[in-house]
Amino acid sequence: MKLTQSAALAFAATAVAAPSATTPLKPRQASACASAVSLDAKTNVWKKYKLHANYHYRGEIAAAITSMSADLAAKAAKVAEIGTFVWLDTIQNIERLEPALAETPCEEILGVVVYDLPGRDCAAKASNGELKVGEIAKYKGEYIDKIASIIKAHPNTAIALLIEPDSLPNLVTNIDLQTCKDSASGYRDGVAYALKQLNLPNVVQYIDAGHGGWLGWEANLKPGAEELAKAYKAAGSPSQFRGIATNVAGWNQWDLSPGEFSTTSDAKYNKCQNEKTYVTTFGAALKTAGMPNHAIVDTARNGKSGLRKEWGNWCNVKGAGFGIRPSAETGTELADAFVWVKPGGESDGTSDSSAVRYDSFCGKEDAYQPSPEAGQWHQAFFEDLITNAKPAF
Ligand code: BGC
Repeated sequence: MKLTQSAALAFAATAVAAPSATTPLKPRQASACASAVSLDAKTNVWKKYKLHANYHYRGEIAAAITSMSADLAAKAAKVAEIGTFVWLDTIQNIERLEPALAETPCEEILGVVVYDLPGRDCAAKASNGELKVGEIAKYKGEYIDKIASIIKAHPNTAIALLIEPDSLPNLVTNIDLQTCKDSASGYRDGVAYALKQLNLPNVVQYIDAGHGGWLGWEANLKPGAEELAKAYKAAGSPSQFRGIATNVAGWNQWDLSPGEFSTTSDAKYNKCQNEKTYVTTFGAALKTAGMPNHAIVDTARNGKSGLRKEWGNWCNVKGAGFGIRPSAETGTELADAFVWVKPGGESDGTSDSSAVRYDSFCGKEDAYQPSPEAGQWHQAFFEDLITNAKPAF
C-alpha cells in the first residue's frame, strides 16, 4: 500500500511525534541544560548522555516514509528516533549545526561529524570534497572557526565530535598515491587545527581510525597509532580528546568470531578480524604511542555479515541491514559506545560511471546499483536496511 504524501506525513508526525506535517525538517523544541556543560574526557560520557536523533535525519526519513508501505513506514518511524550523527560535509551544511544543537535536550549528546578537509577522500573518488589541496586557510577560517563559534554559543549542550573520517588512515596506507601525497600536509595541519580550536568544555573529541580491515594489519598498527598520536600532540594534547572512532560508514561485525575474513589467505597478518579485537589491539598501540585510546564504534549498518566479496569493499554493500543500536553497554572497557554515525539511507557513492565522482568500488558486484551520489538519499537502500536489520525492527 502506498500512502499519499499528506497521509504519510501525518502518520510520521504521530508515529515519531515530530516533525510536523507541514514542515518535516523543523527542529523540535527542547530545553538545553540550565547551566554550562562540562564534559570530563577522562570518563565515558556515553554512560550519562544518550545520542541525539537529529532533525536532519528525521526529516530525510519523514520524506522517505511518503512512498513506503504502512508496515515499512512504521519501522522507518522507529529508525527516525535512533540517535545518529549529523554530518557537516560542506561549509554550507554547517547550517545544520545550530538547529540540531538547539533541539538537543539536556540528557542527550549531539554527535557531529567534521568532514571537509582540502583534497578530501584522497584514495577514492566518491566523497571528494569542495576544498582543493592547498585551501587550508579556507578550511580553518570558513569551516572550523565557524563551527567553533556556533559551539561556543551553545555552552549548555553536550557534543561528541568525530574528526575527519578516513583522512589520517589514508596517510598511513595510501601515501603511495599522488593524491594522498598532495593532501598529506593539509590533512595533518587541518586535523590538528580542528582538535585545537574545538577543544571546548562541552565537547568530547574522537578522531577517525578506519577499521580492523584497514589499520588492523600487523604492518599498519604501529605507523597508524603514531600518525594519529602525532595529530593529537600537534594539537597540544587537548583536554577534551578521548580517542578514536572506528568502522565509520563501515560494515564490520563487532564481535563475530571467527571473523568474517578469517579464512582468507592473508588472514594470518591481521588479528583484528572483528572491531572488538581491533579496538583492543589498536588501543594498545595508541597507548604506546602516547595518546588517549577509548573508542566509539559505528554500528549503523553492520547488522548482516557475509555480504562483501572483499574486506575493502565499502560502497553501498548490497543486502546490508541496520545494526546494533547506540548504547554505552559494549562490555569492553576501551569501547565507550556503539553509535550510529553513517545515516543509513544516505548513499556512499554514485554507480553512474560517467559521473565525475564515480569510483569503481561503487560498480562492484556487491555494491547496490543504481545508487546516487555520496550523501544523497537512497530510498531502495534505506528500505533494505530496514528489512535486513539485526536486531529487527
Ligand atoms: C558523503 C557525505 C555525507 C556522508 C554521510 C559521505 O560519504 O561524502 O557527503 O554527508 O557520507 O552520508
